[in-house]
Amino acid sequence: MKTEKDTFRRYTVTSALPYANGPVHIGHLAGVYVPADIYVRYLRQQGRDVLFIGGSDEHGVPITIKARKEGITPQQVVDKYHALIRDSFKAFGISFDIYSRTSNAIHHETASAFFRKLYEKGEFVDKVTANYFDPEAGQFLADRYITGTCPHCGNEKAYGDQCERCGTSLNATDLINPRSTLSGAEPVLKDTHHYYLPLDRYEPWLKEWILEKHRDDWKVNVYGQCKSWIDHGLQPRAVTRDLDWGVKVPVDGTEGKVLYVWFDAPIGYISATREWGQEQGKDWEPYWKDEETKMVHFIGKDNIVFHCIIFPAMLKAEGSYILPVNVPANEFLNLEGDKISTSNNWAVWLHEYLEEFPGQQDVLRYVLTANAPETKDNDFTWKDFQTRNNSELLAILGNFVNRTLVLTQKYFEGRVPEAGELTDEDRAVLEALPHFPGRISASLESYRFREALAEYMNLARLGNKYLTDTEPWKKIKDDEARVRTILNISLQVCANLSQLGEPFLPFSMQKLRDMLGLELFSWEEGGRTELLQPGTLLSQPGLLFSKIEDSEIEAQVNKLQATKETNLANNPVKAEPQKEAVSYDDFVKMDLRVGTIMEAEKVAKTKKLLKLKIDTGIDQRTVVSGIAEYFEPADLPGRQVCILVNLEPRDIKGIPSQGMILMAEDADGRLVFMQPGDKVSPGAGVK
Ligand code: 2FM
Ligand code: ZN
Repeated sequence: MKTEKDTFRRYTVTSALPYANGPVHIGHLAGVYVPADIYVRYLRQQGRDVLFIGGSDEHGVPITIKARKEGITPQQVVDKYHALIRDSFKAFGISFDIYSRTSNAIHHETASAFFRKLYEKGEFVDKVTANYFDPEAGQFLADRYITGTCPHCGNEKAYGDQCERCGTSLNATDLINPRSTLSGAEPVLKDTHHYYLPLDRYEPWLKEWILEKHRDDWKVNVYGQCKSWIDHGLQPRAVTRDLDWGVKVPVDGTEGKVLYVWFDAPIGYISATREWGQEQGKDWEPYWKDEETKMVHFIGKDNIVFHCIIFPAMLKAEGSYILPVNVPANEFLNLEGDKISTSNNWAVWLHEYLEEFPGQQDVLRYVLTANAPETKDNDFTWKDFQTRNNSELLAILGNFVNRTLVLTQKYFEGRVPEAGELTDEDRAVLEALPHFPGRISASLESYRFREALAEYMNLARLGNKYLTDTEPWKKIKDDEARVRTILNISLQVCANLSQLGEPFLPFSMQKLRDMLGLELFSWEEGGRTELLQPGTLLSQPGLLFSKIEDSEIEAQVNKLQATKETNLANNPVKAEPQKEAVSYDDFVKMDLRVGTIMEAEKVAKTKKLLKLKIDTGIDQRTVVSGIAEYFEPADLPGRQVCILVNLEPRDIKGIPSQGMILMAEDADGRLVFMQPGDKVSPGAGVK
């Protein structure tokens, strides 16, 4: 059978270029950079020819908005964040071959040439459309530069592309009472000329390439999004904008226009490869043009359409490039139950983590992989971070390695002892060892990084259990020969851990290899049972991991709580006008009670709904409630709620719902319980 090694001579692995308009956070690491880095380190360890590309995405409207707000130039904005982002990635061991940026001259050149080639081949269509123009500022307005009232929810601060209160996507012309954020003037519609990539022309080809060829090997979430786009019918997409920040449109008569940021950003991968070629004196082209190159794009879920539909259509139109073999995208990571948000400062920023947990990069890499949002959105909590460190990294991996090394020092002056006669217990470990590299590989090559890490930790578990079961500390007095065997085998397991753990925990595994006096071997050598020769002198053991104390976690939780309070203070709920008066008689018709939630479960195929079983004191009944985005079902049983029990029953998603629980809506749309402060009997009336 033809293996991947026979098919591909080299790999080009790209990771989405983050916007240089803010620092990077745990969501970035978990979604894109840690999995990409694990994959790349693994391939390198396999001896494959890999090029790992990263860089900052330095164009786009939000950067110009930020610059205007801060009274600096867009270049100053990107200079600041590019450096911060680059340094954070470096500190976390994200092992790019190059970390470039799209404001570089080489990128402007590459993107211009790319556009020109498509233009000359007649691959664009052009159109004149009416766009909003600010008559005072004398310029066209990007959607983000227009605010107005949302026609759906009445939010007066909706943007031209989206209302952040109700989440609806908008066209700028939908806004009621639109205003330019540049001058406050009322914008006017004015004709403007733009180039479009006619995606509709690529529909038949995309159907075949994605929907047929990649049905089975692309991740379900990626495939699903592509299918939904294609099924809705593809439309021509504008690839130029009226803006003065970006790559100038390289065609006469287009003053004041730049390439759309999503047109130039993915070309950034190519520019970075060219830059790398110049720096290293290497030919860049095979990494983009040779069919024997495997191209893999690691991206976030909001980047899927751009990497799977638009960029491939651009590459196809250009004609000389290869296409990605896979585009693994993760779902989103939430933080303590809420969406990570840069504007609300709801994030764990990498540069702050590095200061607060110095030297503990591997812990975060570990937690973000073990809990990676691979198939669904996931939640990062500080409690889980602590537990995974203390009960897994420290208690299993660290504990095993440390006990083995300390005992070897103590009993054999730090020299690897020789194994003697083997027992069944020993053989079981030695027979299990060679299976680990293959199993971990299989998971890594299918982009299942959580599973790969869990398999790796099984090896640590195996070693830890073996040492605990064989109890060398009890045998040393009477049976030194037996202890030699046990420690030899334990050391071989440690040696394997130090090799196979490299992609996940590069800093700690380097430390471990230093203690064992080992180089990094090729992946295939993992699983061998004689990685360490008897007689080898080991270094003094040091600790790989340390305990994370409750106080450290509390400090982080308090920091987030303070953020929440600041956000609430800055964004108070705008009280709605009082409703029409109701008579006392009408009011008392409403039968409000206290209820206790008995059971809670998600309603299948919905995002927002939970099915609750509530003890109302009168009976136990089912209520369907739209609170699933804010509460975990497991946390609800036992909670008391106010419930309107005589609301007419109705079917929600086929479930008869009897009543309504009362919730309060926060300024950011979050729902919180109107919870009785003290425990009350279910059925107590609310008056
Ligand atoms: O979502 C983002 O952060 C984009 N800047 C990703 C761009 S990926 C690529 F096209 F450069
Ligand atoms: Zn709205």
